[in-house]
Amino acid sequence: MTVWAILLAAGRGERLGLDHPKAFAKLGEDPLLAEPLRRLEDSDWIDGIVVVAPPGWEEPAILLAEELGCGKANSCVPGGETRADSVRAGLAEVPADALVVLVHDAARPLVSDELIGRVLAPLSEGWDGVVPGLPVTDTLKRVGSDGGVLETVARDGLYAVQTPQAFLADVLRRAVAGDAEATDCAAFVEAAGGRVKVVAGDPRLLKVTTADDLAKIASWL
Ligand code: CTP
Ligand code: MG
Repeated sequence: MTVWAILLAAGRGERLGLDHPKAFAKLGEDPLLAEPLRRLEDSDWIDGIVVVAPPGWEEPAILLAEELGCGKANSCVPGGETRADSVRAGLAEVPADALVVLVHDAARPLVSDELIGRVLAPLSEGWDGVVPGLPVTDTLKRVGSDGGVLETVARDGLYAVQTPQAFLADVLRRAVAGDAEATDCAAFVEAAGGRVKVVAGDPRLLKVTTADDLAKIASWL
């Protein structure tokens, strides 16, 4: 089973609000991107890595991969305007013989080898895609634009999903073809009629959105 990872790092990081992209924000001593890159490189599950960099930041991304000795990261491409465009740009670099594609947000630096194994396993049991998720614990309300509550939404069966998300490569390629938009890859596969399974996620896979998230993750290193 040949497994390729697409590491999505092309976002601008507007909510973090730095003068450089989020992937190059400092996490401890290194740029944020270094942490997931090193972890994917060190995972025995992964055969190759495509880094999707912010447009104009390909060279620093390649230099970083070289500095870290990431021999699996042999491809780096600029991302697109949206996350879905960045996924398509990365997928175009994944070799045709890859059986499985793992799509991961660089903004979730603390990906573990154990979690990668957990999302890959169901692919050999007939699932088209597998995503890590955490059951929602807060009460959910739909709220109108004036702040008034419209309804309380039943929480049973609701999960907040994370990355890495694993897919059979040909299923993902077919599902993202075109120019549709979605905030995760699984939504494309679901829309195409694919079977997507949720497995246990990891609270440490917190996504860096704000400076507080970055500080929290740095304290977990
Ligand atoms: N991403 C990407 N290409 C884009 C948009 C997002 O590769 N055009 C990636 C980000 O780099 C990140 C992941 O998708 O690893 C999740 O996106 P998000 O957390 O929203 O990051 P940003 O879009 O960078 O942040 P913001 O929305 O605050 O600008
Ligand atoms: Mg974004």
